[in-house]
Parts: sequence; structure tokens; C-alpha cells
Amino acid sequence: MKETILAKFAEVFGDDKEARAYFAPGRVNLIGEHTDYNGGHVFPCALTIGTYGVARKREDSKLRFYSMNFENLGVIESSLEDLKPYKEADWTNYPKGVMWAFQEKGMQIPCGMDLLLNGNIPNGSGLSSSASVEVLTGFILRDMFGFDVTNQDLALIGQFSENKFNGVNCGIMDQFAIAMGKKDHAIFLDTADLSFEYAPISLEGAKIVIACSNKKRGLGDSKYNERRSECEQALAEIQSVKKIATLGDLQEAEFEEVKSAIDSDIRTKRAKHAVYENQRTMKAVAALKANDITAFGQLMNASHVSLRDDYEVTGIELDTLVEEAWKVEGVIGSRMTGAGFGGCTVSIVKDEAIDTFIAQVGKAYEAKIGYAADFYVVEIGDGPSVL
Ligand code: GLA
Repeated sequence: MKETILAKFAEVFGDDKEARAYFAPGRVNLIGEHTDYNGGHVFPCALTIGTYGVARKREDSKLRFYSMNFENLGVIESSLEDLKPYKEADWTNYPKGVMWAFQEKGMQIPCGMDLLLNGNIPNGSGLSSSASVEVLTGFILRDMFGFDVTNQDLALIGQFSENKFNGVNCGIMDQFAIAMGKKDHAIFLDTADLSFEYAPISLEGAKIVIACSNKKRGLGDSKYNERRSECEQALAEIQSVKKIATLGDLQEAEFEEVKSAIDSDIRTKRAKHAVYENQRTMKAVAALKANDITAFGQLMNASHVSLRDDYEVTGIELDTLVEEAWKVEGVIGSRMTGAGFGGCTVSIVKDEAIDTFIAQVGKAYEAKIGYAADFYVVEIGDGPSVL
């Protein structure tokens, strides 16, 4: 890959003298969905697929961007004096947002750059291609200009840029999983205080399989923001009767005691998901530590049911993938992953069942939905690196 992207960089930007190549992963969340903006726990891991980039400083303040995933868009230009989101600027609003965020945080970028990207995360799949681009950009800025920021800072800067520059009120999970990724480990992160622990994932005789619904998120971002504000409102209602800082502070029984303070059935369901999913995530990590992968899988299944019935972020495509997966012998657990409304499912499948899983779920999906899903057997990889 390094040779391919350097060669393309030379073709697009003249030559590749003094250009450096980089990588940042994508992520998949094993359990703990829609908990990261509710002060709860998440359990994601970085993948070996992600975004490759080549970058080089310029002598002026111009920014020139090129993506091998959107070759039809050609070179998109901007400058450090004009770091604003524009619709026509398309994907470049992500790297530009991170540059803007560095400047907002007092780190002045001294000169422009040429940047080429090539990602192998299926686009719009919910495996965090945008967070991958954000962390990659921050990593490049640090490498190029020596800014004094940790990988955890890169995650926070990425989230800040997505919230404030790109207008999506995402939590910290994606950027954190990507910036802090560790091969063969998932990250058990408490989003209330960012304390975390690496948990080894050694699925003896099984693998992580991602099924991509090929349904684009579409209106997902606005629905995402809507869920977030429903939870915020439910929290405020509960706070009128009980002193808590976030929904993540509540155990299931405590929630049942105070839920009548929430003045809407919909918001009660949303808050219930946030509370129960957080508790499920803690139980799932405990099960994994006890080597009880069956219990882990059952908690994944329960997570999907809650996202389908209470949080209502699945839809026929994700439900079909998961419900068909549950029918296959050798599937330990299966659920939607990421924001929902399209995107992917994550399943843990025994090695000997993987071919059947892909054939059977793929066939049933296409018959019901009318187009095909894509399947990826993935590996857990490290965070960003210089190639
Ligand atoms: C998206 C957001 C994350 C998280 C998930 C849902 O991926 O970017 O912050 O909220 O959805 O768990």
C-alpha cells in the first residue's frame, strides 16, 4: 500500500520528495452502543483496515487534498486562512476541521500541506471512516510540526472538530478507539472520565465478522442528534428526583425506581436503553475476563434487541442481518454496531461456521432487501502509525 499511495501522490502532486506515508485504523464496537454521550461504558477495538495517507509540507499556506476514494472530485483546494466547512468541500471538511481545531486550541499551523488519502474502510459503513480521517490528520499534524499532544488528545481534538466544525454531536468512542487502538485488544472505556483498560480478545476458534448492509446512513446524523437530545431531556427529568450526573450513573433497579419522572414513553425507552446497555457492557467485559464467550455473545444479542425496540436505531436492513445471523449454528453473538440507521453488524462466529454464515445470511438478506450485503472477517489492529 505504501508504494501505491506514494506513487499516486507523485502523480497528483508532481513528485514524492520529502512526503511521508501514514495509517490510521477504522473501528468496530463490540458492545456499549449509544452509551458514550450518556456517561456510560463502551467496548470498541481498532481494525487493521483504515485510512492511508501521504502528506508533505508546502511553502505557502495552501491546502491541497486528493482522495483515491473520490477520484472524480480531483484535487480540492483550500488554505489555512479559510478553514470553514463548505458543502462543496465534501470529505475535505474532515481534515480541515481538525486543522481548525488545532488552531482553536492554540496550536498554530505554520504552513500548508498536500495530502492524499486512500481508505479501505467501506464508505458510510459505520466503521468510522470519518473518525479515522480525523485521527490521521491530527497524527500527521503532530508528526509534521511537533505539536505536544498525546494520542488521547488527538481523539479529543477529532471529536471537537466533528462536533463543532462538522455539526455531528458524536461522543468520544470512535476517535478514542482509533487513536488508542492496540492489536488483539478491545478498549473498555468509561466515557464519564476517560479511564480505560485494554482487554485481550483471544477468540479461540472464532472470529469477528462484519456484515455491511450497504444501506447508507442518509438521515442518520439528524436522527443521531435527536436521540442524543432525547437522552439529555430524560436525564434532566430524572435529575429532578435523583442526584445523578449522567444516565451511566444508574443501575437497572435504580432506573426502574425513578423512571416515572420521565414525562414521555419514548424518552423512557431511550433512557432505559442507555442505562441497561451500560450495565450490559460491564457484564460483557466481566464475562470475557471469565472466558465465558457464550455469555458475551448473549449480551451482544440483548444489546441488539434493545437498540431495535427501545432505542429504535436499527431498521429492516440491520435487523435482517442480525436475525438471520442468530439462525446460523456457530454464531456466538450478533448485533448492529455504530450509530445504526444503516451501516454494519458485528458477529462473533466460530471458524467452521464462517462460510455458511456468509452464504446463508447473504442469501436471505439479498432475497429480502433486494441488494447484497458485504462481509469482512476482520482483525484487531493498532492505532495510528508512520509507515
Ligand atoms: C457513532 C458516534 C459514537 C457513538 C456511536 C453509537 O459512531 O460517532 O460517538 O455514539 O455512534 O454508539
